[in-house]
Amino acid sequence: MALQRKYGGSLPAILDQRKDLTPDLIAYAVRHGVSFMPSFRKTEISDAQVSELGAYLVRPRRGNR
Ligand code: HEM
Repeated sequence: MALQRKYGGSLPAILDQRKDLTPDLIAYAVRHGVSFMPSFRKTEISDAQVSELGAYLVRPRRGNR
């Protein structure tokens, strides 16, 4: 809902549908937080897990998603 409000529909509110994210940006958001998104410590989400999340969210997709 926060991302729907932030972008007013000009970007998808669902991270999994975004095409503009990079693994670095995703890692930055997870480690530092964004607005009221909390940051996560390495004891909560390891660097390896953050990399996997980044790779998942920027994975190639078929069709227009
Ligand atoms: C570890 C898993 C998560 C990942 C990979 C992640 C990733 C991201 C990214 C990349 C953004 C930036 C999007 C943008 O500004 O265009 C974002 C924003 C946001 N996230 Fe997360 N997030 C995670 C977990 C969470 C959790 C657990 C919460 C809530 C408790 C949360 C709440 C938010 C909110 C509210 C924003 C929008 C902040 C704003 O208004 O600018 N996120 N997230």
